[in-house]
Amino acid sequence: MCGIIGHVGNENSLETLLTGLENLEYRGYDSAGVAVQNGSGIDVEKRSGEVDELKASIEGVSLDGTVGIGHTRWSTHGPPTDENAHPHTDETEDVAVVHNGIIENYAELRAWLREKGHEFTSETDTEVIPHLIQYFIDSGRDNETAFRRAIDELEGSYAITAMFSGEHVLYAARKGSPLVVGVEDDEFFLASDVPAFLEYTDSVVFLEDGDVVVVDHDGVEFTDLAGEPIIREPETVDWDPEQAGKGGYDHFMLKEINEQPTSLAQAVEGRIDPENGRITLEDLGPGTFAGIETVQLVACGTSYHAALYGSIALNRAGIRTTAVLANEYSISAPPVDDGTLVIAVTQSGETADTLSALRQAKLEGARTLTVTNVVGSTAARVATDALFIRAGPEIGVAATKTFSSQAIMLVLLARRIAADTQSDPPENGEALLAELAGMPDRTEDVLATSDAERIARRYHDSRSYFFIGRGLGFPVALEGALKFKEITYEHAEGFASGELKHGPLALVTPETPVFAVFTGEEDEKTLKNASEAQTRGAPVVAVCPAGHEALEIADGHLEIPETNSTLAGLFANVQLQLVSYHAASLLDRPIDKPRNLAKSVTVE
Ligand code: F6R
Repeated sequence: MCGIIGHVGNENSLETLLTGLENLEYRGYDSAGVAVQNGSGIDVEKRSGEVDELKASIEGVSLDGTVGIGHTRWSTHGPPTDENAHPHTDETEDVAVVHNGIIENYAELRAWLREKGHEFTSETDTEVIPHLIQYFIDSGRDNETAFRRAIDELEGSYAITAMFSGEHVLYAARKGSPLVVGVEDDEFFLASDVPAFLEYTDSVVFLEDGDVVVVDHDGVEFTDLAGEPIIREPETVDWDPEQAGKGGYDHFMLKEINEQPTSLAQAVEGRIDPENGRITLEDLGPGTFAGIETVQLVACGTSYHAALYGSIALNRAGIRTTAVLANEYSISAPPVDDGTLVIAVTQSGETADTLSALRQAKLEGARTLTVTNVVGSTAARVATDALFIRAGPEIGVAATKTFSSQAIMLVLLARRIAADTQSDPPENGEALLAELAGMPDRTEDVLATSDAERIARRYHDSRSYFFIGRGLGFPVALEGALKFKEITYEHAEGFASGELKHGPLALVTPETPVFAVFTGEEDEKTLKNASEAQTRGAPVVAVCPAGHEALEIADGHLEIPETNSTLAGLFANVQLQLVSYHAASLLDRPIDKPRNLAKSVTVE
């Protein structure tokens, strides 16, 4: 959700900025722009469209300078036009600013600045920032003081980077939106996210809310808003830049789907004690969850589907659990007390809705835990504890490998919370653990033998697509539909199998293929529900093991291995991810960058 990059180095910044913007494009691709310090002034180039369009438009233009900022936008205020693209400047073009987040009091600030004679050229909330800074400069402050003074006036969420004409310095501030600093000898980077500069450095400082940094050729100064020095230590991130590239695949999404054997192995690695099958979760030692009586999972989108999956696993382990959409939590949260564990499930760790639910739960006295992919992310730091799914960078806007890793992490967590809170935790251990160990190889088999492309080819010009499942197959059906609509732009819906007959059956025609997920939980009922749709003309694609009874009626088959019902849904999900991918490819959709969407949604 908007990507920021800043660079201070010894070579020309432009190439680094453009690479950073390409690496950050998953955060928004409505418009892109850069500003480079040319020694006596600031050169700004920006336009609506993707980074490639910006690159084409500046070919041959000289933008020389060793300090610069860039931005890729996901529109919140104002449509994706050239005028609304960042960087924004004041009228004199002495201050250039890039911003991610929302300035809630921008209308008041804008009206106030207008009264002082400032004129605005965009519809964005961001444009008030350079004007405000310029106002404070005009009233006698130096650049740094004016920057801090302006930040102090802002309400809402922001990650901001600013530069001033004739000065080789970047100023940055963060509140509620992510911002990280990369350090490599005497070269420095500012960015919304680590992949922006991963090919240049793996040494990263994760800024916290209220931090202000000043970066020049001599180094980085970390302070609070008042200018008091603070200590921020760099961490080494163990993501490989290769992982953040496409690695020969046409799309990040396909690469990430195919990475699941590895990401699943990484999620489980070292977390099951081979001696006794106990779940070991790094520094969350045995007994960590003692006293927990209820669990609430908060999440959005795909992570919410993983949370639903996890809630079923937790309930089956005897732990009273509810999954709540994070964006509903402020008005619909179940009661919380000190026996409640609230778990935020979030790939990015930066989703505003999820952070807001997490903070609310903490304030109300719940214990908190984040399950995330991003070390150093805000959610990892806000919660009392954090567990990392270790899926590696996920760049495709449509989440894939992180869903399966989140679900597995929650399955492990269910066993661990049960062990910590129950004198006689439910048994089913050995079989599940054996299946878990074999999961990466069996996922590899599913990927290698999948018939998803043929099924997508057969049905991709249908009118609407339904996904049904029961038990753990239900969140998989929801996720299958979300993935399908997100990247194909076709209408798709997921239902609990038993719900079809309570209304949705009215929509069923020969033009509405039904993908039925069989996870070995009351499969005979799901089969009955699928048959009811088929009787009304709908083709049925059964996602089930070879030899399953559903194949007696099914029009198509996506095969999953025979396995424990706790894991079957995750194999089915891989097949459905592939169907969505191939259907979107046949429909010629921009798979990694679906329209109107962005990864890491940092606004509520
Ligand atoms: C869909 C998708 C989104 C995210 C949601 C939450 O493919 O990726 O629905 O799952 O925006 O994001 P995180 O997990 O980063 O909190």
